Amino acid sequence: MSSVAVCPGTFDPVTNGHVDVIERAAAHFERLIVACLRNVGKQPLFQLDRRVELLRSATDHLGNIEIWTFEGLLVDFCRQNDVGIVVRGLRAVSDFESELEMAQMNHRLAGVETFFVATSPLHSFLSSTLVKEVARFGGDVSPFVPPAVCDSLRAQFAANRSV
Ligand code: PNS
Repeated sequence: MSSVAVCPGTFDPVTNGHVDVIERAAAHFERLIVACLRNVGKQPLFQLDRRVELLRSATDHLGNIEIWTFEGLLVDFCRQNDVGIVVRGLRAVSDFESELEMAQMNHRLAGVETFFVATSPLHSFLSSTLVKEVARFGGDVSPFVPPAVCDSLRAQFAANRSV
């Protein structure tokens, strides 16, 4: 039996869809580690520290959440921290193929189990990528992200427009 799980992601930036999955997963574990990936290959909009700050502010109403960072393989992070369960949100059938592959690979590599949370239909169209695109061109993303993320996106893209 396990009382801890990890909810990994890039969170560039965290959206209301992520928060929904985190809240619902947190209700089923004593501790939920939200692990924010430092992707070496990708150039994120927000640096790792900022992504972590935004995650903290979006989840500070939850008492059993810890925000950590990781790089490299998720299964190594799981092994190092003695965590055997990964939680991921599933928005639609289109997520299923890649999520299934990752779940099977993580199980094959280290016996790590993946539990899926079906994303609320309210958020099923949401992704960090789409939110960034809408914000980049001045659209209102306030219904889709926590307030601090909305402010950060506005500031980030306003700064980009003024150069
Ligand atoms: O928020 P994302 O970008 O959908 O999250 C993807 C994430 C971070 C869960 C996935 O890319 C990951 O686990 N990366 C770490 C590297 C790794 O373990 N890759 C093999 C996965 S089978």
